[in-house]
Amino acid sequence: PETITLQDLAQRMNERVADVVKFMIQQGEMLRGNDIIDADTAELIAEEFGHTVKRVAESDVEIGLEGEDDDPKDLKSRPPIVTIMGHVDHGKTSLLDALRKTDVVAGEAGGITQHIGAYQVKLKSGDRITFLDTPGHAAFTAMRARGATATDIAILVVAADDSVMPQTIESINHAKAAGVPIIVAVNKTDLPDSNADKVLTDLLQHDVQVESMGGETQAVKVSALTGQGLDELTDAITLQAELLELKANPSRHADGVVIESQLDKGRGPVATVLVKRGTLERGDIVVAGSQWGKVRALVDERGQQLKGAGPAQPVEVLGLDGAPDPGDSFVVVDTEARAREVTEYRIRSKRQVSGKAGAAARASLDQLLS
Ligand code: GTP
Ligand code: MG
Repeated sequence: PETITLQDLAQRMNERVADVVKFMIQQGEMLRGNDIIDADTAELIAEEFGHTVKRVAESDVEIGLEGEDDDPKDLKSRPPIVTIMGHVDHGKTSLLDALRKTDVVAGEAGGITQHIGAYQVKLKSGDRITFLDTPGHAAFTAMRARGATATDIAILVVAADDSVMPQTIESINHAKAAGVPIIVAVNKTDLPDSNADKVLTDLLQHDVQVESMGGETQAVKVSALTGQGLDELTDAITLQAELLELKANPSRHADGVVIESQLDKGRGPVATVLVKRGTLERGDIVVAGSQWGKVRALVDERGQQLKGAGPAQPVEVLGLDGAPDPGDSFVVVDTEARAREVTEYRIRSKRQVSGKAGAAARASLDQLLS
């Protein structure tokens, strides 16, 4: 059941605890500030003190933050978000580095210079693809644990000289559990002892049926070393993205997920976020995990300052009051008061989760009092 302490209720109403306690005594209830009351009682008290009550369940606080659903007519297609997975040494990092070079903007703006946990490439066709860097990354694990992976497509890298290995299987299971489609990249095909066909048949045993075996999973032979097959791989990603019909409304308050964060000596807390919906803009008030702040600057993977970042765009956010955790969600809110309210709520629920089981499940009642 939803509960709250008298103290918390008083604070939310901006009333003195003593007055609330006095009121309860008048009702024949001898309670102290840290005593717990249920939602109905809280509502009664709040009304008695002249406040209107809007009850929001714990999970609804997050949902409330998500705002309204988008009108289908506001949805615009967005780039796919791609994660590279696979066994140790099969070439995940090499492939990410090679794909980074497929970016056509590279020449113009100095190329992708920073490692910011995620990057976006613009293909010759004009299509964009967002790659989540450092796979098996803390953020990915955290997002997976919350059942909210930010990934649309998983590239399963399998070295052609080594074939299916334990972490290949693990990656398959992760992708399947998350409902994320797989594209197989058979890597190291430049090696003389490579055997791409063996990889494809071995995958059959793990329920990955590639197209040449009568299945629906795309497979591409590549070499991260020579760059062979990379165009085919980005084509396969684009095709898969089209099938997924990925869309988002760019014209709303932004929300998304924190990929990584750090405390930078010169710049203060810096969070790399991935925008899922809306456009994040300079000057926005952002809540990220249990941190908040006004966006002072947005910086992309080329070190360029941006005015705004739209759906599927990774960007560094400066201006938060602390470093949020990877996997935390972020959202733009209207006012600083709202930002404080949300962060206080989050800090409190984190505290609850991390122990103090005896202290009862207080404050699962989240009331917005006006
Ligand atoms: P971990 O991050 O340790 O799991 O490895 P990884 O999957 O990121 O592999 P990484 O990119 O570090 O590559 C491992 C080794 O394979 C390195 O020595 C690479 O140079 C080599 N390698 C990667 N791709 C290719 C390729 O296409 N051909 C050849 N011949 N070697 C490759
Ligand atoms: Mg690596």
